[in-house]
Amino acid sequence: MKIKLLFYNLVFILAIAFLVSQSNSQNENFWVKLNPAFSGATFVMDKETCVTCHDGDSESYSHTIHSRVFEKNPGNTLEASNCESCHGPRSYHIEDPDNKFSFTEEQYSLICQQCHQGGDMMSWKGSLHNNSEVGCISCHSVMEKKSDKALLSKESELDLCATCHSDVKAKAMRMSSHPIMEGKVNCSSCHNVHGSSAPGMLVKATTNETCYSCHQEKRGPFIWEHSPVREDCLTCHDPHGSNNKAMLVTQNASLCISCHQYGGHINEYRYNRVSTPYGDGCVNCHTTIHGSNHPSGVKFTR
Ligand code: HEC
Ligand code: HEC
Ligand code: HEC
Ligand code: HEC
Ligand code: HEC
Ligand code: HEC
Ligand code: HEC
Ligand code: HEC
Ligand code: HEC
Ligand code: HEC
Repeated sequence: MKIKLLFYNLVFILAIAFLVSQSNSQNENFWVKLNPAFSGATFVMDKETCVTCHDGDSESYSHTIHSRVFEKNPGNTLEASNCESCHGPRSYHIEDPDNKFSFTEEQYSLICQQCHQGGDMMSWKGSLHNNSEVGCISCHSVMEKKSDKALLSKESELDLCATCHSDVKAKAMRMSSHPIMEGKVNCSSCHNVHGSSAPGMLVKATTNETCYSCHQEKRGPFIWEHSPVREDCLTCHDPHGSNNKAMLVTQNASLCISCHQYGGHINEYRYNRVSTPYGDGCVNCHTTIHGSNHPSGVKFTR
């Protein structure tokens, strides 16, 4: 009995000791793993020391949210270490500035994730950006405030995305598009740039769910459903913009005829003619093309 108790006590004490040793060495291990030269280095915990030699960088940094929070309202010792929370324990560097510890972009992403994980960052690791070697600092500038939004490295989100996705920006300038240029809809309204489990890094699980988040009236359910609408809005629309009315992928008469080729009125010019430069055609009469709740709306004419 006594031996059993002793045994449990021992296991308990060992477990505690293990946890304590973990929390003590966790930070150091993290940095040594990034760069073995950090081995034995300690945190200086004094921004002013850094400022004596890095006044320029420190000045621009002082206007960022990190500087404000880490200095005035740090949540833990890592945040209180300020500069060193991103640059690692700097005692060797203070002794001799020639002891340098530069990081790759990928390493900086790990450094940021010490504090930024979970929430909408949950899928970062498997995200197309991370897998394409686009790190946090491709999009965020932490040493200098360049944007009013989220420390972005360009003044506006659109400018930022356009540096690598200029084709999408070009579409946003077409005749019909979401008000992206006006800043009323952002790329991040539909995309989680930090990664998501949906195709195309969409904010919702599917394209249609993403669209319904703003176009609720298209969600239905309707008495009379038009099946391509339920399946995928992108069958008919390009969400980035097009040169047809309502961001249609083609003028609407040819769009409809791509699926409804059979006879009757559909093939008559009188019905399918493109009545405006951008095409009204079929929806002149089939006005409830996204679905109808009218008892006799089976042909989407009301
Ligand atoms: C939130 C993370 C973070 C904090 C906090 C931070 N830095 Fe940086 N620092 C970076 C990153 C990332 C880079 C490299 C990319 C860049 O220049 O934006 C960098 C670059 C630098 C450079 C190198 C610039 C160059 O031209 O090579 C210096 C020097 C520097 N930081 C000093 C400091 C000092 C001093 C502080 C505190 C006053 C500080 N940093 C706080 C992340 C941080
Ligand atoms: C005695 C002067 C001095 C002090 C104090 C000092 N540095 Fe430096 N630091 C330098 C010099 C010199 C360089 C090299 C600059 C270059 O190569 O352009 C440098 C380079 C850097 C770099 C870029 C290279 C690297 O190692 O990543 C960072 C980041 C940096 N220092 C951060 C800090 C931080 C954080 C502190 C405070 C804990 C600090 N420094 C304190 C002189 C100093
Ligand atoms: C030591 C913890 C810590 C580290 C390391 C850190 N951050 Fe932060 N970051 C914070 C805190 C705290 C805030 C303040 C707002 C908050 O609580 O989310 C913040 C805010 C931000 C914001 C939001 C700014 C805004 O205007 O809303 C961005 C973007 C950001 N960090 C990016 C980064 C990037 C990129 C890195 C790596 C280069 C990084 N952070 C490293 C703790 C950290
Ligand atoms: C492809 C560009 C891009 C990359 C890569 C990126 N971000 Fe962001 N980040 C943004 C944009 C745009 C916003 C603002 C819109 C939003 O909140 O989604 C943002 C917002 C944030 C915010 C503040 C709001 C929030 O979502 O919590 C934090 C913190 C942040 N990013 C941290 C990071 C970190 C850490 C990494 C790397 C692991 C990273 N970002 C990688 C573009 C990027
Ligand atoms: C109204 C919602 C919406 C907006 C706003 C939006 N997108 Fe998209 N985007 C989508 C959808 C939906 C897809 C297709 C996703 C899938 O199924 O792969 C997509 C696909 C993409 C793709 C994948 C390849 C391609 O070109 O189709 C990229 C890159 C992209 N978007 C970037 C952007 C950028 C950059 C912006 C801002 C200029 C932006 N998106 C704005 C909804 C949107
Ligand atoms: C530094 C370059 C860079 C920046 C900045 C950038 N991206 Fe990307 N993005 C990429 C790369 C590389 C890929 C990988 C797939 C590819 O080549 O299109 C990608 C992929 C994507 C995809 C998924 C494409 C797909 O095929 O499913 C979307 C959506 C996207 N980016 C949106 C954005 C948005 C929104 C922004 C602005 C907040 C942004 N990106 C900023 C480089 C970048
Ligand atoms: C963040 C909100 C938001 C999301 C998400 C969204 N939209 Fe929109 N959509 C808008 C706004 C705002 C307008 C402009 C409305 C206006 O000007 O009256 C618009 C307009 C449209 C138009 C009409 C454009 C025209 O020229 O008449 C179409 C078509 C459209 N959206 C399709 C989609 C599709 C498809 C999706 C999903 C991929 C989607 N939207 C997701 C906000 C959104
Ligand atoms: C079968 C093709 C087709 C599909 C699929 C489709 N639409 Fe449309 N949509 C159209 C046509 C055609 C118009 C132009 C109507 C007009 O000119 O009056 C339009 C117009 C719109 C408009 C602007 C006018 C309005 O009715 O508010 C929005 C917003 C819109 N669609 C959203 C969506 C959404 C969201 C989805 C997916 C749930 C979707 N569409 C799926 C064909 C389609
Ligand atoms: C991607 C293929 C596709 C496109 C594009 C498409 N439809 Fe349909 N449509 C269907 C399918 C599938 C049905 C349901 C099958 C059926 O009942 O014959 C349907 C049903 C209909 C019906 C009711 C048919 C009936 O017999 O009750 C009308 C009317 C209609 N569509 C009009 C249009 C118009 C107008 C357009 C162009 C704005 C259009 N469709 C675009 C696939 C499509
Ligand atoms: C002048 C009004 C008008 C125009 C324009 C029009 N339709 Fe119709 N369409 C109708 C009416 C009314 C019906 C219902 C006929 C019935 O119930 O017998 C119908 C029925 C349909 C049907 C169901 C099958 C059938 O023949 O009953 C389809 C599919 C259809 N239209 C597609 C189209 C397409 C595609 C276009 C454009 C090329 C188009 N319509 C243009 C009025 C129109």
